[in-house]
Amino acid sequence: MGKERLKQFSSLNLADEARREDDVQDKNNVQTQNSPLPNNQLSGGLLGWYSVISSKSLEKGKLYSFSMYNEPLILYRDKDSQPKCIKDLCPHRGSSFIGGQIVGDELICPYHGARYSSTGECTNLDRITCQHIVDSNYDNYAKKIHLYQYPAIEKNGYIYIYYNGKANTNLNDFDIKSSVEDSYIESYGFKTSEYEYEEVTVDFKCDWTRIIENHLDILHIFWVHGNTIPDKDVNRNIITSFNQKIIRDTNQIESKYNHKDKEKGEFITIKFIPPGRIVIYKGSPDTARYVQVLDHVPLAKNRARVVVRHYRKFMKNKLLTKLILFRQLQQRIFYKVFSEDYMILKTQTFNQQMGYVEKDNVKLLGEDKMVQYYWDWLQNALINDNPWQLHPTDTHTNAVHHDMPMLYPPENKTLSKRNDNNILINLIIRALIPIGLIMLLI
Ligand code: FES
Ligand SMILES: [Fe+2]
Repeated sequence: MGKERLKQFSSLNLADEARREDDVQDKNNVQTQNSPLPNNQLSGGLLGWYSVISSKSLEKGKLYSFSMYNEPLILYRDKDSQPKCIKDLCPHRGSSFIGGQIVGDELICPYHGARYSSTGECTNLDRITCQHIVDSNYDNYAKKIHLYQYPAIEKNGYIYIYYNGKANTNLNDFDIKSSVEDSYIESYGFKTSEYEYEEVTVDFKCDWTRIIENHLDILHIFWVHGNTIPDKDVNRNIITSFNQKIIRDTNQIESKYNHKDKEKGEFITIKFIPPGRIVIYKGSPDTARYVQVLDHVPLAKNRARVVVRHYRKFMKNKLLTKLILFRQLQQRIFYKVFSEDYMILKTQTFNQQMGYVEKDNVKLLGEDKMVQYYWDWLQNALINDNPWQLHPTDTHTNAVHHDMPMLYPPENKTLSKRNDNNILINLIIRALIPIGLIMLLI
């Protein structure tokens, strides 16, 4: 897989004009003895900290099933509500924990009832091995039965896991090579305490890097979402009216877009923070009224999840927000925007998997520079980490997990329908209240 991907975009060239600015920047970024990387190269790879789900989706007492790079995993909360992430494999006979339970502090396997403590030890070995009747090798066995885990932490309403493709029975055995703080938007100057936010989680049947490219790609916003995103600047007529400046350092790639014809016309800033976070905002981090955070999760070869959060400094009055159904209407926009992207991402993934998105078949524009830099990073990261080889599988061997319900349309329209019904019911109630009052007065 890694090698296949390496071929992609290998001969793509940016327009000369677009290169010039970065050539100057590259000359200034000379590698020094103290820094292992030139400061225009991202230090993080594909294995590292991922924000995989929002905190509120991880309810206490429930098992949350997902996967990373094809590897099935389970998230749950222990009795202190701390998030736990384990490989979805019971170390007794390899059952999945889907259908299992959490009782007190223990995870119970649905197959033979093995119970595991929050540190991963099996707490009822004597009963599941029937040691007094059958198994004479109890002590040896006891040493082997332990959950396979990944480090998980909760911060700012997100669950982060450290994914390196090799679950350990002891969390202390992880050699953690990247800092989770680099993902926090607070590290970039945003004060999240000053914002309210809306959020949705969306599943796509497509390659996860196609989605990341989509969110780094400013051109398509005007074209694909021009009638949906409520922004006076987003329409098909102003596509070429801004300048782009890209800044790269060891933690992020940042692309700033400015209006060409307005003095202080900063249009938008897009940051890519590896391995899967994108932050989009206007203005500077300390003044931005609105910040969009998109987390991309590589579930499987042809399946990806995005957790989208929109922070806002406006509409903070809770009563007013409720009254005008702000949250539901915002969610409706999210769903519409992702539906607009979905068809393109799905068919583009097909083209990529068929090998069409290679060499001379595609040519990037200067405006695609952000995508090119993302690909530069991705190609190196695939060589170094080769994550798709850690749990290789194809759509057939992964069928069980592909059959599991997706969190969002087009495959599963439940969430958007529920949201639409919610809006409708609330509107009817609002219409009935004044009518009822008038009737009473009459
Ligand atoms: S497979 Fe889990 S208890 Fe047997
Ligand atoms: Fe889009």
